[in-house]
Amino acid sequence: MLNYKQYFAKKLSSLLTGFEAHDIMAWMEYPANPDQGDLSLPCFRLSKTLKKSPQDIAEELKAVLEDEHIDELEAVSGYLNIFLKKSMFAESLIRHISQAGDHYGSQSLGLGKTVVIDYSSPNIAKPFHVGHLRSTVIGNALYNIHAFLGYNCVGINHLGDWGTQFGKLIVAYHLWGSKEAVNQRAIDELLDLYVKFHEEAEKDPTLEDQARSWFTRMEQGDQEALALWQWFVEISLTEFQKIYKLLGVQFDLYQGESFYNDKMEPVIQELKEKQLLEEDEGASLVRLDAFGMAPALMLKKDGSSLYHTRDLSAAVYRADKYEFEKLLYVTDYAQNLHFQQLFKVVELMGYAWSSKLEHVAFGRVSIEGGSLSTRKGNVIRLESVLEQSIQKIRDVIEARNPGLANKAQVAEQVGIGAVIFNDLSANRIKDIDFSWEEALNFEGETGPYVQYTYARACSVLKKAQLPDGDVVQIPEVDGARLQDKEAMAVVKMLYLFTERVEQAMVKLEPSIVSRYLIDLAQAFNRFYHTCYILVEETQVRETRLALVQCVRITLRNGLKLIGLQAPHEI
Ligand code: ARG
Repeated sequence: MLNYKQYFAKKLSSLLTGFEAHDIMAWMEYPANPDQGDLSLPCFRLSKTLKKSPQDIAEELKAVLEDEHIDELEAVSGYLNIFLKKSMFAESLIRHISQAGDHYGSQSLGLGKTVVIDYSSPNIAKPFHVGHLRSTVIGNALYNIHAFLGYNCVGINHLGDWGTQFGKLIVAYHLWGSKEAVNQRAIDELLDLYVKFHEEAEKDPTLEDQARSWFTRMEQGDQEALALWQWFVEISLTEFQKIYKLLGVQFDLYQGESFYNDKMEPVIQELKEKQLLEEDEGASLVRLDAFGMAPALMLKKDGSSLYHTRDLSAAVYRADKYEFEKLLYVTDYAQNLHFQQLFKVVELMGYAWSSKLEHVAFGRVSIEGGSLSTRKGNVIRLESVLEQSIQKIRDVIEARNPGLANKAQVAEQVGIGAVIFNDLSANRIKDIDFSWEEALNFEGETGPYVQYTYARACSVLKKAQLPDGDVVQIPEVDGARLQDKEAMAVVKMLYLFTERVEQAMVKLEPSIVSRYLIDLAQAFNRFYHTCYILVEETQVRETRLALVQCVRITLRNGLKLIGLQAPHEI
């Protein structure tokens, strides 16, 4: 499919001296109002160099630009507005999408390049909460989007499976726990022990010392400590995997913090050799005052390692192993400082790849206005959120469409889709509140709305007796039959998919895809309500059906990218 921006930018740059096609392309816009053309070039930026008014430039371009794709040109208020030959545009796009099918929107721009994505990364022996859900969902979407654009992706779950919290847990387990209780209540028991530890430690600070010494024993390879640790890890992993299964998320590697236990020593040595490590009251740290940051702590007084030590070793290890184009860390913005420090230390070590590290920060999540904290124990567990969501959708289906086949499966797809979509519905840096009413609303800007629209497109095709499984070849496409403005709005929206996916990759912002899906679904629903699709006249009907099919393909591709299923019927 022709990239119109690129195509016209090239043509325009050949008509203008001193401007690169690349820049012109970046300036071009798709006007929101169809009366202002399908594409437009604001001429303001050219004005200074060309020493002419934007309007004069637009007029001059209008006089000389000629092309078979152009129906009409206008020079208005400093803009050159391009109106495409609509039928040619619609026809070629519909053919392209129908042919490309599952690949529509994909590109090969990432071929030969590797992106490593560190996401989800919950902490062992603590429950998987809605904050980790956001990391999982954003990381998974970024993985899919990069893979769709040809990148080789490596998805790593950097489990929090090492650190002083295990010392705390061991102390708590010895004092108040039992083998039976842990076996029976699994992660719930671990959480209760963890919470109890913090309550009791407020009264008796020696508990903290005991916890530290258990952790030191772990670091020194103590058998008893390690056996307990291993047991806690297994219990937590089993729990996490249930959630990943529900979400349909997979990782290439589970490489938690403990993986770096034997890889930290050489990195500490290297820091010493590069004279970056300083002693401070027995602890070792890298000073970052010159960069306006607190020091990055590398070793505690007792010689034990920290979150930073393990992250630094992980970065060095990954750089050796993958020669990545980008290494992305998906966590909430509370870790901004941690990653700024980490990236600075890597830079100070002299590694050129420090510029390839990026913190994909996101905002905090609350549920119905309530905040979440592990220590105090008022945690809302993700599994229960997902289960409630599925149940609520099941009730809706029961009320609206009780005869639906495989209700349970559809309720799961939509219930989970609602939660995932909610996490991706706004710019990632924004804090979000999860509200049942909003997230599950079939008419709102939600996952269920997009999925429902997808099912509607499938149902239209089914009514027309076109099989709704694979892409079907619809014989007659005649762009001239798509002149209604609602139909053209759908065509234009379909066209934008490729560019939006690319933007989502560049900005590391999956919400661009979810926003797009809402826009496409809304455009399609306006078309559906205004233009009767199954009309008598064969050519109009088939052309409209072809358009519906393209909507179906594009919605499905987009849903897949952000990790949602596309049920044929709801
Ligand atoms: N386990 C951490 C947490 O729950 C997130 C880890 C993110 N990845 C990393 N390489 N630091 O906050």
